[in-house]
Amino acid sequence: MELRDLYSFKEFNVVITGGAGVLGGEIACALLGVGANVAIIDRDTKRAEQLIEHLGCPEGCAITVYGDVLKKDTLEKALEVITNEFGQIHALINAAGGNHPSATTKPELPFFDLPLDALRHVGDLNLLGTILPCQVFGRGMAERGEGVILNVSSMNAFRPLTRVPAYSAAKAAISNFTQWLAVHMAQEYSPRIRVNAIAPGFFLTEQNRFLLTDEETGNLTERGQAIITHTPMNRFGTPEDLLGAAMWLLSPASAFVTGIVVPIDGGFSAFSGV
Ligand SMILES: NC(=O)c1ccc[n+]([C@@H]2O[C@H](COP(=O)([O-])OP(=O)(O)OC[C@H]3O[C@@H](n4cnc5c(N)ncnc54)[C@H](OP(=O)(O)O)[C@@H]3O)[C@@H](O)[C@H]2O)c1
Repeated sequence: MELRDLYSFKEFNVVITGGAGVLGGEIACALLGVGANVAIIDRDTKRAEQLIEHLGCPEGCAITVYGDVLKKDTLEKALEVITNEFGQIHALINAAGGNHPSATTKPELPFFDLPLDALRHVGDLNLLGTILPCQVFGRGMAERGEGVILNVSSMNAFRPLTRVPAYSAAKAAISNFTQWLAVHMAQEYSPRIRVNAIAPGFFLTEQNRFLLTDEETGNLTERGQAIITHTPMNRFGTPEDLLGAAMWLLSPASAFVTGIVVPIDGGFSAFSGV
C-alpha cells in the first residue's frame, strides 16, 4: 500500500464520544476533512450539530447521537442508530472525560474534605466512561476481528499533578486499561484490533481554564506559569496539535502498534526541570 493510501479515511466509520467538546470536536472535524464518516456521541447533541453545520460537510457523513458514557443503555441505543446509518463501525475514540472543580483541592477545600460524589463522578466519567463505550462498540470489532480504539489519557497518568487526585488516578487507570484491552483484544479476538491512547499535555480549555488563568485578569495563574516553564516548547497545546498522532493511531500506518500511550505535550514529560 502506498504511504498516502495509509491515510485515506474514505468509507471509514468512526464513533467519537465527547465529540462536541474542544479536543474531541477538533478530531471529529479533521476526520470529516479526510473523508471519514463520523458519529458524534455527546450529551449535548445541539452543540455537536452546530459543529457539523459549521463545517458544512457532505450530507450523511456526520451524525450526532445522544449518549451518556456512564449509561450503557444509551450507548446501546446509539450503537443501533449509528449502525443503521453507517453500517459497521471501524473505530472508536473515547474523548468524553475531564476533571471537575469540586474534585480539586484548594485552600478552602482540603483533600480530606473532597466530597465523595465529586470524587466518584470524576473517577467514573474518565475510567468507566472509557470502559463502557469499549464494551458496547468493541463487541462488533471482536466479532469481525478488526477495529481501532483510541483512548484519551493525560500527563496526569505518568506522574500525578497536584490538586486533582481523582482525575490523576482515573487517567492513570485509562493508560493501564488501554494496555490491558490491547492485549485482551489481540490475544482473545484478533491481532487486527488495536487499542492505543494519546496523552495530551496542557491545552487551555473550559475544564482547566479556572486552574490555569485568573478569571478576572485572564493572566496565567502560578500553576499556568509553572506549566509553561516546564514545557520546553514554551506554550500550551492547541487542539490541532493532537491531529497527527490521532490520525496515525487510527490509520493502518500504525498497523503494528497497540497498547501505547503517546504524549503530545511539547516535551513536558521529557523535562526534568533542570
Ligand atoms: N484540555 C486539556 O488540557 C486536556 C489535557 C489532557 C487530557 N484531556 C482530556 O481530553 C478529553 C477531552 O477534553 P476537552 O478539554 O476537550 O474537554 P471538553 O471540551 O469538556 O470535552 C468533553 C466532552 O465530553 C462530554 N461529556 C462529559 N460527560 C459526558 C458523559 N457522561 N457522556 C457523554 N459525553 C460527556 C462533554 O459534554 P458536556 O458539556 O455535556 O459535559 C464535552 O462535550 C478529556 O478526556 C480530557 O480529560 C484534556
